[in-house]
Amino acid sequence: TKPIQIAIDGPAAAGKSTIAKIVAEKLSYIYIDTGAMYRAITLKALTEGINMASNDEAGQLLSKTEIDLQPSGDGQLVFLDKKDVTEAIRSQHVTKAVSEMAAHEQVRQRMVELQQQLADGRGVVMDGRDIGTHVLPEAALKVFMSASVEERARRRFEENKKRNILTPLEELQAEIAKRDKMDSERIVSPLRQADDAIFIDTTDLTIAQAAQEILKLAEERL
Ligand code: C5P
Repeated sequence: TKPIQIAIDGPAAAGKSTIAKIVAEKLSYIYIDTGAMYRAITLKALTEGINMASNDEAGQLLSKTEIDLQPSGDGQLVFLDKKDVTEAIRSQHVTKAVSEMAAHEQVRQRMVELQQQLADGRGVVMDGRDIGTHVLPEAALKVFMSASVEERARRRFEENKKRNILTPLEELQAEIAKRDKMDSERIVSPLRQADDAIFIDTTDLTIAQAAQEILKLAEERL
């Protein structure tokens, strides 16, 4: 069978990447976490102290930046100017700043180009905010995945604990809600469910159940 493209979008901490990874592995497709790219450029902007509100400064920074994603055993490694930043881009510092950086048109243009190149002609599971609407508009399967904000904060809290990050639950919930608002309200390709996307509420689903549901939908399209 011919490989298909699977687009998974949704708000922050909805379980997209965990589930996308499982689906990709089961189908022997590549997994691309597009949020990692926006996080990488944000990390560089923070390090260089550029004015995050400026579209031009963001564009200039990007033109002298190399972002590279490489599939690895259980996911994806992220390189920023050849340096492995896979862990560094998950910091709360980056998380708090990323939505401002991701709102810039020049930033999005470059990232979308890169994402389309990575996906070209292969079986791929890509997760993000605008995959079904902008990056892979022809994807054979589009899923929009969400869960209540309380449940998403709780999941992020548990995930953080494993990595020794101890941000309080209330703070996580506020951060997630704020990021969703910024991502949904930005002018350039805001977070939105594509017309032809299938909505999956994962609030009461386990990871395995959600992955199973998507695999079933994928198999119908193979
Ligand atoms: O998926 P993750 O939570 O790592 O994404 C971090 C941020 O990157 C999002 O909050 C959003 O601002 C931005 N993003 C985006 N478009 C995508 C993926 C992520 O704007 N396709």
